[in-house]
Amino acid sequence: MTTVHIPVITIDGPTASGKGTVSHLVAQRLGFHYLDSGALYRLTALSALRKGVDLGDEHALAKLARDLQCSFSGEDVFLAHENVSAAIRAEEVGNTASKIAALSTVRQALYRLQLDFRKAPGLVADGRDMGTVIFPHAPLKVFLTASVEARAERRYKQLIGKGFSANMSDLLKDLKERDERDANRTVAPLKPAEGAYVLDTSAMGVDEAVERVLGWYAALKKQHAV
Ligand code: CDP
Repeated sequence: MTTVHIPVITIDGPTASGKGTVSHLVAQRLGFHYLDSGALYRLTALSALRKGVDLGDEHALAKLARDLQCSFSGEDVFLAHENVSAAIRAEEVGNTASKIAALSTVRQALYRLQLDFRKAPGLVADGRDMGTVIFPHAPLKVFLTASVEARAERRYKQLIGKGFSANMSDLLKDLKERDERDANRTVAPLKPAEGAYVLDTSAMGVDEAVERVLGWYAALKKQHAV
């Protein structure tokens, strides 16, 4: 069955830009499915760390990604049958995810899995390359960003809220390194997709960002572009 007529909203952006929260809420408001593509990279990273796979062994990492036994239920993420929602949010896992996400074989291994999330009545896809690589024909593409300081502060609150320890200057350093890696990798680098609406949320709350995205989507619907 073809899925090309199922609407997709892509929301890409740098680490800790608030994409996850905004994407979730947009999906909820529209009754759409939600793809957290970062979770797939995090799951692959967690699996590699647990199995002690050499992070230089591209072939073994791609195999892990290809054989990933994951499932999603609401906000919960499962690896095989274990709920790993909290474990995949650890900074070590995020950093490893960002490293292995630079490998083209790992990205290819996760490609098909991501396309399968496109189901009626629609999908909100959150990531780095949703609009540039995975769903390049999506009717609405958004690039969500914020200053590195605003993002570090958000990540700090998020980690503390989840019971992890966090240090602001380490976080800033990590974020900058991750931005650098995401933007400069040769495969699927982080950049706004062609035709993307760019939204800087440095001084904007979640609700306002959600309303903007919904407003763009409603305008497209009115023009019968979705
Ligand atoms: O918010 P944060 O960047 O920490 O994490 P995430 O969105 O859960 O993604 C984890 C890592 O996976 C990121 O640092 C990216 O390097 C990578 N990623 C990617 O390359 N492509 C995607 N579509 C999603 C995530």
